Amino acid sequence: SNQPTSPKQSVGPDYRDEKQKPTATVSTAVPFENVHTLPQTPQLIALLTMIRDKNTDRADFIFYSNRIIRLLVEEGLNHLPVVEHAITTPVGRSYAGVQFQGKICGVSIMRAGEAMEQGLRECCRSVRIGKILIQRDEETSMPKLFYDKLPEDIADRWCLLLDPMFATGGSAIMAVDVLKSRGVPENRILFLNLLASPEGIENFAKRFPQLRIITAFVDQGLDEKNYIIPGLGDFGDRFYTM
Ligand code: URA
Repeated sequence: SNQPTSPKQSVGPDYRDEKQKPTATVSTAVPFENVHTLPQTPQLIALLTMIRDKNTDRADFIFYSNRIIRLLVEEGLNHLPVVEHAITTPVGRSYAGVQFQGKICGVSIMRAGEAMEQGLRECCRSVRIGKILIQRDEETSMPKLFYDKLPEDIADRWCLLLDPMFATGGSAIMAVDVLKSRGVPENRILFLNLLASPEGIENFAKRFPQLRIITAFVDQGLDEKNYIIPGLGDFGDRFYTM
């Protein structure tokens, strides 16, 4: 396949001379307007380095993943509409601000997506969270919907679809089909993930051109077992068990 080479970029604070900055592999550029990659800041690259490292233990993996998840949720929320909202401060002055408009919900793709629920709850108090379980059918080896529990008024909500690893996109495509079948318009779905593959993005962006993908990093590709490379291994195993 035509796997892109991984670009390296200098990383570090602006006040440092370019020549004094270390270089690091940064996210692969993708030609789709609906893909939003987090700014490749020194913080983000350092956090990703921690969770990619096979020697990072479970406690650190959870801690640093959670920091990236918070960044993804905050960026996702920037895509929701706001309306003007003027308020009065305690010193009696007015401030011309905004407030969020509309209802949201999270939808986690089990099991790994559940790891992103806490980060969403920390940003959106008492947010409704639905779940979707998709697994490979033993007979057909195709992804199959095994279980879903979604808010009954989901068609009126913005949906933040949660799955940390966006590899082939097979489960995410099925999850989006479920959301659309419940009446959620494609342009009100945001798919939040930590690592994405160019293959998964390509599958998805063509199929759902109005759906927004918010990712921390677009990696190099997939290996023969459909693991993301360089990747971070099995996210669910590292978050829940290892
Ligand atoms: N799921 C994972 O946990 N890791 C990958 O690399 C791909 C899918």
